This record gives sequence, C-alpha cells and structure tokens, in this order.
Amino acid sequence: MADTGMRFGFGDNWNRFVRQKHSQQRLDAAAARLTGFLKRDDLKGLDFLDIGSGSGLHSLAALKLGAEKLHSFDYDANSVAATRFLRDRAGKPDHWSVEQGDVLDDSYVASLGTWKLVYSWGVLHHTGEVWRALRNAQSCVAEGGLFYIALYSKDVDFQPSQAFWLEIKQEYNRVTSLTKWLMVWWYVWRFGMSMNIRNLPAVLKQIWTYRTQRGMNYFTDVRDWLGGWPMEYAGDQETVDLLEGEYGFELINVATGHACSEFLFRRTGVNGKKTKVKDMVARLTGPAGSPAAVNVA
Ligand SMILES: C[S@@+](CC[C@H](N)C(=O)[O-])C[C@H]1O[C@@H](n2cnc3c(N)ncnc32)[C@H](O)[C@@H]1O
Repeated sequence: MADTGMRFGFGDNWNRFVRQKHSQQRLDAAAARLTGFLKRDDLKGLDFLDIGSGSGLHSLAALKLGAEKLHSFDYDANSVAATRFLRDRAGKPDHWSVEQGDVLDDSYVASLGTWKLVYSWGVLHHTGEVWRALRNAQSCVAEGGLFYIALYSKDVDFQPSQAFWLEIKQEYNRVTSLTKWLMVWWYVWRFGMSMNIRNLPAVLKQIWTYRTQRGMNYFTDVRDWLGGWPMEYAGDQETVDLLEGEYGFELINVATGHACSEFLFRRTGVNGKKTKVKDMVARLTGPAGSPAAVNVA
C-alpha cells in the first residue's frame, strides 16, 4: 500500500552532492547533455525555467551556455539551498533567480509566466500527481518554446519489477540511517555487481565514468533511486499523446530505454499531432539501436 505522507529528502542528497562533488568536469558533462539533446550549440536567445532544480547543476549549465534569464525552483528547501550554493559560486548573477516553489501550486505556476525553454528532468513523477504536474509544467512554455522533460517510464522492464521498486523506496524512507547505508551497498552488490565479485572492476569503472553522464554522481543517484518517493511511472506514448493531443506540442526528440525517458517538445499551438514514440525511437537510433540496460539515471 502506497504511503502518501512520506517524502524522500531529495535536497539533503543534492546538498551533499554540490558541496562534495561539484566540479568543472561535471558542469561540462551537464552542459553537453543539455546541448546534445536540444541539438543546439548554446542557449543564447532562450530563457530557462528549471522546475525541480535539485542540485542546480543544470541551471548552472544553462547559465554557462548563455541563457538570457533563468529561474530555478524546487519544492524542497534543501534543493533550493543547493541551487543557491551553485548560484553563489557563479557570482550571484542578477538574471538567475532561485526560490522555493511547488509545481502543483496552480497560482504559483501561473505567476511564473511563459518561458522559451522549460526544463524539468526527473521531477514531475516525484510530486505525487504526475499528470497534474505535467499539465502545470507545460503551461509555462511559450508559443514556439521548448519543453524538455524526463519521466520514469512505465514501458521499461524494470528488474525485479516496477512494483518492487515502489516498495523499496517506501522502505528506504522508513529505516534508520545505518539501514539506508546498508541498502545502498545491497543495491551495489545485487544490481551493480549482480552478486558476483568478479564484476567489481566493471562497477568501479561505472562509478568513475558516471560523472560524464549528465554530470551526476553514482552514489547520489543510487540514493535518489532507492529513496525517491513519492514516485509514479508514466507511459511514454501516454505522455506524448497528452501533450500533442491537448496542449499543442510536437515531439522533436526522445530517448528511451533508461529508467527515465527523455522528451523534447516544441509548442506549435496546434493540437492533434500523433507521433508514435516507437517509430521515432527507431528512426533516431536506426535498426541496430537497442535500449540500454536499465540504469538509475
Ligand atoms: C530526482 S530530483 C531531479 C533534480 C534535477 N532536476 C536533476 O535533473 O538533477 C527531483 C527534484 O524534484 C523536486 N520536486 C519534487 N516535487 C516537487 C514539486 N511538487 N515541485 C517542485 N519540485 C519538486 C525534488 O525536491 C527534487 O529536488
């Protein structure tokens, strides 16, 4: 039975990450992931709204990429502190604001106005009301603007099962700090190493190279994966059908096969486009393209 009252301390995890792990290399990786998925060299000419900014690393990357105005908000006060920490280190630029806010708060979201690039990576499925959060988030995208989101996918064959992970997340939030620590090593042993010591070198390599994927840290993401609650899965096609059918978007890029599917939409103002996600994935990856193994990122 899902526990609706409990919440993972996302911000504690992000604070630890920015204070202990932040580096130029991670920032470069975050910027590369942004420009790679957006298929742009920079963010000049765009303003950037970061919904659920977490560490703030991707807001900082957007700043470095030349975004003209930035606003980052997060529900969790500690995520706000982490994002402010990075903003302060960047010299407190006037055109980057950071505050606490809730994407489920209709009047707060309405007060934000519209933006040319709205970014919400790995957030909306952690609100407890993923579809309402998605509807609110899309309302911030300007006409012709871009909407870059990532959502835990219902279409991925999670091992052992999607329901298993929902239970684990609730368990992680109930237990003591010591048991949380043990659960992290249980995860590494069971899923990272497949319970075989000979896989240790491969896991060590994964831990080391993890920073090159969106600039994240392996253990920060493992804790986020084990504890990230509330949490829902969203169907890839369901997401596209909602945004194209009701909100005048067209899908222009997609990446599936990892725990989170990534989507890039452009607001055309015309409802009813019917992009088939599987066809687009096949077109983008070619016949040899196959989904990568499920990864916590
Ligand atoms: C998994 S983290 C992702 C952080 C960041 N977007 C990234 O890509 O690294 C999810 C973040 O969403 C935030 N969040 C959860 N519910 C929210 C809500 N209702 N409104 C705004 N942020 C929320 C959490 O506090 C957390 O910082």
